[in-house]
Order: sequence, then C-alpha cells, then structure tokens
Amino acid sequence: MLQFWSWCYEWGVRTFLVSPDEPTAAKGISTMSDTATRTTALITGSSSGIGLDIARAFLASGANVVLNGRDPERLAKAAAGLGRPERTAWVAGSIAEARTGEDLVHTALDRFDSLDVLVNNAGTFSSSPFTEVTEAELDGFLTGNLKGTYLTTQAFVRALRAQGRGGSVVNIGTVLVDHAVAGFPASAPVVSKAGVHALTTALSAELAADGIRVNLVAPGIVRTPLHSGSDVDSFGGIALLGRVAEVSEISEAVLYLAGAEFVTGHALRVDGGYVTGRS
Ligand SMILES: NC(=O)c1ccc[n+]([C@@H]2O[C@H](COP(=O)([O-])OP(=O)(O)OC[C@H]3O[C@@H](n4cnc5c(N)ncnc54)[C@H](OP(=O)(O)O)[C@@H]3O)[C@@H](O)[C@H]2O)c1
Repeated sequence: MLQFWSWCYEWGVRTFLVSPDEPTAAKGISTMSDTATRTTALITGSSSGIGLDIARAFLASGANVVLNGRDPERLAKAAAGLGRPERTAWVAGSIAEARTGEDLVHTALDRFDSLDVLVNNAGTFSSSPFTEVTEAELDGFLTGNLKGTYLTTQAFVRALRAQGRGGSVVNIGTVLVDHAVAGFPASAPVVSKAGVHALTTALSAELAADGIRVNLVAPGIVRTPLHSGSDVDSFGGIALLGRVAEVSEISEAVLYLAGAEFVTGHALRVDGGYVTGRS
C-alpha cells in the first residue's frame, strides 16, 4: 500500500476521483448525468472529526461531496467509510497550497459537473502560552488556517463565477474569537481563526452581487480527535448546557447555513451557551 502512494507522488498524482482500493466498475460509479443535478459540496479537512461528519450529512441529504485532507491514506479510508463511492470524490493536499483549492474545484467539475457549496473546515488548533509560541508555530496557524481558507475560497469563487450561478460558503471558526479563557491560552490559532471570521464578513458583502452567500459556524468544544489525549468532557462545564458538542450538531448548523437563501455574513454560534453566560 505504501509503495502505491509513493508511486502516485512520484508521478505527481494527488487527485483521485475514487478510492484506489476498489475498481470503478465494481463500485457501480454513476454516470455524470445521474450526479449533475445534485448539490455538490467541497469540504476541506474532511478525513476526520467535524469535516468527516459534515461530509456524511451532505451525502445523507443526497449531495455529491469532494473530500480533502493532507494524509492521502487517511482520506482514502474516510472516503471508503462513507459508503457512497458514486457520490464521493477526494483530493489530498494542504489547503495552504493554492493548487489544492484548484484541484478540489476541477475534481468537482470533472466528476459531478457542478459546484454549489464550499465548507472551509480544515484547520489545526493547540494551546500554548503567548510567549512560548515560536515563529514557525505562528506561521503554521496563519498559513494552514487563514491563508488556506482564503486561497481555497478564491478558487471556488472563480469557478462559481465561470459557472454563472451563485453558491454558498460556510466557514468554520471558533467561539474563542469572542470569548477567551485564561487557563486555555491559544492566541496563535485564535488570531488565525479571527481572520476567518473577518473574511466571512468581508466576502459576504463583496460576493453578494454574484449570488454567493458567505456564513460561519463558530463551534464551542466538540468531541473530535482534535482532543484525543485529553478528557474532552471535562470542558463541558464551560457551556451553559453543561456538556460538549457532538459533531452532528455542527453538521446540522453547516447544512442549515449552506441552504439558507436569505442568510449571509452570519456567524452562528453552536456552543451550548458558552459565550452567552456563566452557569
Ligand atoms: N473540535 C473542537 O472542539 C473545535 C472547536 C472549534 C473549532 N474547531 C475547528 O473545527 C475544524 C475541524 O476540527 P476537528 O475538531 O474536526 O479536528 P480534526 O479531527 O483534527 O480534523 C481536522 C481535519 O482537517 C485536516 N487538515 C488539517 N489541516 C489541514 C490542511 N492544512 N489542509 C487540508 N486538511 C487539513 C485533517 O486531516 P490531515 O491532518 O490529514 O490534513 C483532518 O481531516 C478545525 O478548523 C478546528 O479549528 C474545532
């Protein structure tokens, strides 16, 4: 298996339309006409956690999905696990590279002949005291979380304009942008996410004339592999509702915003009341 991936990289192939583990014929890949009338959603960072569940929710709604993540093997497994190969494509690569956004767009058009929704979910997060954050760590958050979201959205918007109809962008931010915790110092990822919040506001105005809506979901603490190694339920007390979120609760908000025709520039907190008050 590892030899296979090395071979792919040697030849510069990063984009697979189907899992290479299963031959296309055996998977019953549908023709383009079967899939072209469906909504097509591009979801970055969808090999794990929130992004993977967002993909599952879009597939359940009948949409086509294009998945993304940096680790191709993990991504292939995630795609196969979704069980809908005829409506699932994927592109391995970091969103920090402009080429990844372009590959996502081309894959959607080649495979499904349409583009409708972009969910900018890919991101990393970790806690570190302000004066201990290295320049390399700061660059990593700014590049991976903010610049990556910016570049991917540029590729998507250019393609939507060429397609000649509107679409919808849903960004994933964080409530920590509005409500910091002294005991959980995370200035570097938080400033990168603050840029994503600001980008949501700016683009909602700039792209409205193109019929493109831009919104954001700001999760509180969500049970995902991001928290592996810590007792995630110990954070439950910071929410008025006394628990952490499950990934499906974030997906529900993303699907609402993706389809809410009169909502743009909105940041929807899904945080159990964390920002609103103290219990
Ligand atoms: N979990 C929470 O409590 C929480 C709270 C607020 C906000 N969020 C935000 O929600 C998003 C998803 O988090 P999660 O908890 O689901 O984390 P996760 O389980 O670690 O998943 C992160 C996903 O993003 C991918 N990824 C990371 N950097 C990438 C990059 N530069 N390019 C492409 N893919 C990349 C990862 O795959 P690879 O590693 O293979 O690339 C993985 O698929 C993040 O933006 C996070 O900041 C999470």
